[in-house]
Amino acid sequence: MQLLSEELLRSLGEARHVMVLTGAGMSAESGVPTFRDAQSGIWEKFRAEDLATPEAFEANPARVWQWYEERRAIVRSARPHAGHQALVMLESLVPELSVITQNVDGLHQLAGSKKVTELHGNILRSKCHVTGRPISAEWLSGSAHAVPPSPYVSGGFARPDVVWFGEVLPRQALEAAMQAAVQCDFCISAGTTSLVQPAASLPLMALEHGAAVIEINPSETPLSPHADQCLRGLASEVLASLVNQLSSWKHDSGQGR
Ligand code: OAD
Repeated sequence: MQLLSEELLRSLGEARHVMVLTGAGMSAESGVPTFRDAQSGIWEKFRAEDLATPEAFEANPARVWQWYEERRAIVRSARPHAGHQALVMLESLVPELSVITQNVDGLHQLAGSKKVTELHGNILRSKCHVTGRPISAEWLSGSAHAVPPSPYVSGGFARPDVVWFGEVLPRQALEAAMQAAVQCDFCISAGTTSLVQPAASLPLMALEHGAAVIEINPSETPLSPHADQCLRGLASEVLASLVNQLSSWKHDSGQGR
């Protein structure tokens, strides 16, 4: 297992605010498929234009709703792994930890992370396609339609509360993420191809504001050349090892809080 360099371990140990940006690779070992990995990636099998745009939903709401129902079933049966648990432990080792996720599965919260910002929404929630107002699970379970109707607008439909291509990110979440990127002194980018904006810019923003940046990913990404260190491996193993390393460093340097 590749370890964090001594210099970066010290930076992490002394950091006041740590930001962790996670992507689909973070959930892969929990059984939630990634988007762009060869063969197993969702966008290798399906066209995003047919399923993840407002136009696709308007053209065929039943098809889109059904596809999301299948993904919801996968998410409901997924459980956090050692990497999610490591991030919960990290919260107790640093003064401030912001977990910013592109994932819509809620696995960080299920593991017990307290400060989680969801940039792309949450697949287990639904909202009105017309007004954007939240729709409760009780309302949905009472519907026998192929696509549940909106309780707010006659002729309107419920849709998953996720960000589709061509849509803007939730304003509060984006602001919180940008604030964390600007304020953090250590940034960990884990399990993302660093291709989708604006999330992909967050580690670069952190770098510009003086933070150390590391990447956790088995593969190279556009962030790799800019990162202070790339730890090539699985999120579960690398994060668990990183947090062990930090815990030992804190103990050895007498900095246990
Ligand atoms: P991608 O599917 O694009 O990338 C997954 C990344 O995780 C790749 O770089 C893999 O090498 C890496 N990976 C795979 N398994 C891993 C593991 N066990 N540990 C660590 N890394 C691993 O996913 P994202 O970058 O998250 O948007 O995609 C960004 C956005 O594109 C998603 O949020 C989604 C999608 O379209 C929306 O739904 C709006």
